[in-house]
Amino acid sequence: MAATDLERFSNEEKRNLSLGGHVGFDSLPDQLVSKSVTQGFSFNILCVGETGIGKSTLMNTLFNTTFETEEASHYESAVRLRPRTYDLQESNVHLKLTIVDAVGFGDQINKDESYRPIVEYIDTQFENYLQEELKIRRSLFNYHDTRIHVCLYFITPTGHSLKSLDLVTMKKLDSKVNIIPIIAKADTISKSELHKFKIKIMSELVSNGVQIYQFPTDDEAVAEINSVMNAHLPFAVVGSTEEVKVGNKLVRARQYPWGVVQVENESHCDFVKLREMLIRVNMEDLREQTHTRHYELYRRCKLEEMGFKDTDPDNQPFSLQETYETKRKEFLGELQRKEEEMRQMFVNKVKETEAELKEKERELHEKFEHLKRIHQEEKRKVEEKRKELEEEMNAFNRRRVAVETLQSQSLQATSQQPLKKDKDKKNFFSLPSAYSITTGRYVN
Ligand code: GTP
Ligand code: MG
Repeated sequence: MAATDLERFSNEEKRNLSLGGHVGFDSLPDQLVSKSVTQGFSFNILCVGETGIGKSTLMNTLFNTTFETEEASHYESAVRLRPRTYDLQESNVHLKLTIVDAVGFGDQINKDESYRPIVEYIDTQFENYLQEELKIRRSLFNYHDTRIHVCLYFITPTGHSLKSLDLVTMKKLDSKVNIIPIIAKADTISKSELHKFKIKIMSELVSNGVQIYQFPTDDEAVAEINSVMNAHLPFAVVGSTEEVKVGNKLVRARQYPWGVVQVENESHCDFVKLREMLIRVNMEDLREQTHTRHYELYRRCKLEEMGFKDTDPDNQPFSLQETYETKRKEFLGELQRKEEEMRQMFVNKVKETEAELKEKERELHEKFEHLKRIHQEEKRKVEEKRKELEEEMNAFNRRRVAVETLQSQSLQATSQQPLKKDKDKKNFFSLPSAYSITTGRYVN
């Protein structure tokens, strides 16, 4: 069908036809319900709040059971996320519930990075889902969806205002998860203080641009109750699994010397409101918002980061195939450019090394020549010295021969004139006692 035909077709008014009898597609919602019930549901709650604020107690109170609760120490070096999954059943509905605790939140001296592990955990769950979606053989039907559907943010009941850690953390989380702020241990704050505290918290959230989850008002069936409940946020809750006898009934409550705080009494706290909103009325909306708003945002950013676009630079639709081809070309081009760059770098390096070697060779040659000159000079000097010594030796030998000749002549003369005077004898034998090599003379 050509594009113009398609436009005309979609612009045509829809025609209403009345059916002659029962066909059966009015059972579609029932089919959907039956399928969902068979498949079961998953719901993931993230609890963020200081150590010992009452997270585990509230979870136990909300689901009316006892989950394994392990007290956190106050000496964690960083915030750590601890997920625990449970299979619950109510009537014939199966719920895979995951409760994730932000262990050690608020216990570090430097709290600058406290939000980071929480954000990373949420992103990792989105990433896992995205990877499953991008697989060729997907099995989303039985995939255990671990994406966080709601973050219950436990506010300490100081009666003053939010701490900067609360504001920073909620701000970092608000685009990634549905946040429901709750004032924990609300039995420790008086009624009038609680009222002011709620107003203060809401105004601080608004002035800091923190987006909390708003119960939806577009579905007529729940619009009224949801809009009333939106005005009650943040819920002030009390948790307890202890049963106390009030009148002739056993109720979950906290007992004090001065009285009993009943968890499910709406004039004592907002626990029932929270349970109604979180579990009975808006659980499916929380799941849907997670998928259509938060996950969608993550997916879009991630795919854009990877270079995928829906439209080309001229705003024309751009298919995934085209994006892939463009990316592939870009990648190959980049690869070639890098290869050429590396080749050039290699050539330059070789040239540099060659020049360095030549310079080294020249230096060595110069050194050799210099040493050679020194050696020749030394050799010349030694030769001269040798000649000098030879001459001196010759002169010495000549003198020695002369002396020997003289001696022999004297001896001959003595033997011919034996009776010579003593004086003469003395003169004859007074020969020089030493021969000087420098002067070439005999000295007495
Ligand atoms: P960690 O997991 O160790 O961080 O603690 P948590 O936040 O899970 O707190 P937990 O539920 O273990 O409760 C800590 C203490 O607070 C316990 O002694 C609870 O009885 C008490 N507690 C829990 N909820 C409330 C409440 O609503 N009001 C008051 N007054 N105390 C509470
Ligand atoms: Mg706990």
